[in-house]
Amino acid sequence: MQHAISIIASSDVAQGTRQALHSAFACIGIATAPSPAAVIALFGAWDAEAAQLVRNAASSGVPVLAVCTAPPALSADSMWSVLEAGAADLLLADAPDSVALQAGARLERWQALDRLAASARVRDTLVGESPAWRALVRSVVEVAAFTESPVLVTGETGTGKDLIAQAIAHLGGGNGDITVLDCTTLSPELAGSELFGHERGAFTGAYSSRDGAFASANGGVLFLDEVGELPLPLQAQLLRVIQERQYKRVGSNDWHPASFRLVCATNRDLESEVQRGAFRADLYYRIAAWCCRTPPLRERPGDILPLVRHFLKQLGGGGHELDPAVRQYLLTRSYPGNVRDLRQTVARIWHRHTGPGPITIGDVPPEERRSGAPTWPDGRFADAIRHAVDMGIGLARIGQAASDMAIQLVLEQEGDNNQRAALRLGVTDRTLQLRRKARAGQAG
Ligand SMILES: Nc1ncnc2c1ncn2[C@@H]1O[C@H](COP(=O)(O)OP(=O)(O)OP(=O)(O)O)[C@@H](O)[C@H]1O
Ligand SMILES: [Mg+2]
Repeated sequence: MQHAISIIASSDVAQGTRQALHSAFACIGIATAPSPAAVIALFGAWDAEAAQLVRNAASSGVPVLAVCTAPPALSADSMWSVLEAGAADLLLADAPDSVALQAGARLERWQALDRLAASARVRDTLVGESPAWRALVRSVVEVAAFTESPVLVTGETGTGKDLIAQAIAHLGGGNGDITVLDCTTLSPELAGSELFGHERGAFTGAYSSRDGAFASANGGVLFLDEVGELPLPLQAQLLRVIQERQYKRVGSNDWHPASFRLVCATNRDLESEVQRGAFRADLYYRIAAWCCRTPPLRERPGDILPLVRHFLKQLGGGGHELDPAVRQYLLTRSYPGNVRDLRQTVARIWHRHTGPGPITIGDVPPEERRSGAPTWPDGRFADAIRHAVDMGIGLARIGQAASDMAIQLVLEQEGDNNQRAALRLGVTDRTLQLRRKARAGQAG
């Protein structure tokens, strides 16, 4: 497969080494291109120059594969700091051919991942553009499509744990079906039948035989929702099935194969439940072979507007704009129930709206209206500026970066429409055009 990359190098990488790697890459179809799918960053010593090289490349959003051309000099601590600087992986160069093959395999995987993560099905269901959410989606796609590992999804209520479980069922190698078992509703008396199924006459009231969750999940995903609520005796039964990969129906001695992928979700801290003896450690390690956390909405405010647009579309109001005050209201409101809360808020606003034209502030239900204007700059702004100052960035660059970022974000939100973006930014069309030209000039 053809891979488009760009190769950058620290000044301590000899010209001969660069050329040898270039040719080895070219031999297996990895060639340099103007808009690369990945950047290969070569360095000898891990010093300030190399760190800056990787950091700059990573800030473009393209995955960076760091390659150390003088491996014996690289300490384990330095290896971690290569990743901290933003590299997606680090290869220690020995023979150029072997580095090229290793790089080729990484690039192949990343491209497959990118394709899946960018597919309409994934983007239209797991909505969100924030780096935190996109990083989660990428790792969910990776674990779902390239492993058969059990997955534990943790996160506050309404953050999308069910959605992630459904995505794993869809992307994984099974039959795509998902069997959902809500552990809050399992009583120890009836759980045997719910999980294993039963034979006719197995107990009073068992007038006919019935399949349980393990049978219906066969070949697909078994999703144990709120797994932290599973009573201890049921934890033991579940562990046995996971270990033995077979089970018996209640009232039967026949073994049935249990071939399913396990996905569990909880909003509890299961590790501390294990510590206090409320959750079995052996079961925990079985179900949590791979863990992911769905971040609360307050940690990813950049997802609010994309989600609002998504919910409006679902509700039939896809073409409607939001007045700036409504947008500001939605961006600054708090969402204790996370995305579910946002969805309900959007629905309440949409249901009050009538006629054509944008959604206006009068559509916000009276009991929801805020008193007083939101405070800005707020704590989040202060955090971002503190981070820049701590990194030694000067005032002029901070000011420039803040306005460049505002322009970039609004243009993205407005589909690159200069006029609408200018209106939102409170500048004339012409001013915005000039700013964009100046930026393009600097980048080129
Ligand atoms: N990223 C997202 N994109 C689109 N819809 C989302 C997203 N996250 C959550 N939702 C929607 O928000 C609602 C709540 O999500 P979900 O049921 O997956 O949350 P949960 O974490 O399982 O919550 P709980 O802990 O209460 O069970 C659903 O209607 C879901 O479709
Ligand atoms: Mg749920």
